[in-house]
Amino acid sequence: MHIDIISVVPGLLEGPFSHSILKRAEEKGIASVRVHNLRDYATGNQKQVDDYAFGGGAGMVMMIEPIARCIETLQKERTYDEIIYMTPDGDTFDQSMANGLSQVDNLLILCGHYKGVDQRVRDLFITKEISIGDFVLSGGELAAAVVADAIIRLIPGVLNDETSALTDSFQDGLLAPPVYTRPAEFQGVGVPEVLLSGHEAKISEWRFEASVRRTREKRPDLLKGNGWE
Ligand code: ADE
Repeated sequence: MHIDIISVVPGLLEGPFSHSILKRAEEKGIASVRVHNLRDYATGNQKQVDDYAFGGGAGMVMMIEPIARCIETLQKERTYDEIIYMTPDGDTFDQSMANGLSQVDNLLILCGHYKGVDQRVRDLFITKEISIGDFVLSGGELAAAVVADAIIRLIPGVLNDETSALTDSFQDGLLAPPVYTRPAEFQGVGVPEVLLSGHEAKISEWRFEASVRRTREKRPDLLKGNGWE
């Protein structure tokens, strides 16, 4: 998979992709991420990428021309499965959206800033609008990093132990069960006996029941309609 990200603050995205799992995915040649500075596609001495809103009001609006130039340049190299705009008024990102997006070849993500982009960018170029939650970030970069991370780790071969993505919270509509490691006792607090038993079937059953219990307590909304009620 290849992900191109368009940003006016590319430095914000340097960190997330140069460490740990995402770095390994790039080194293994499974996923690559390139960040493009929108200002490189602006014209004039000022390299202007934003302007006042028609009709007045506070806040600047990202101009269509540099964005169009950037998208059209990148489209000469690849055909994108989705051109995504990160925005608080988009569809809320979740594990099922991550699963779907992890199966495509090429994604282009546009990070919003200021008051947002000229609506015509959304009308003419964007195929999917994503929010990572009901709060407003100062730009779409951190949201894009969240989305890219959630997608890339699902691509087969990225995680060392592939089953670990399958047992994540949300993959089966349930929260993941509690986990424990050594020591078997800490300050008088032990771990559930069954986990030390070596009995695989019993451990699976305990984990499933603990998942259902945890989901019922913390996220009862997830149980509605998924058959675990
Ligand atoms: N840009 C600003 N806030 C955002 C959010 N919550 N999700 C996605 N992009 C954003």
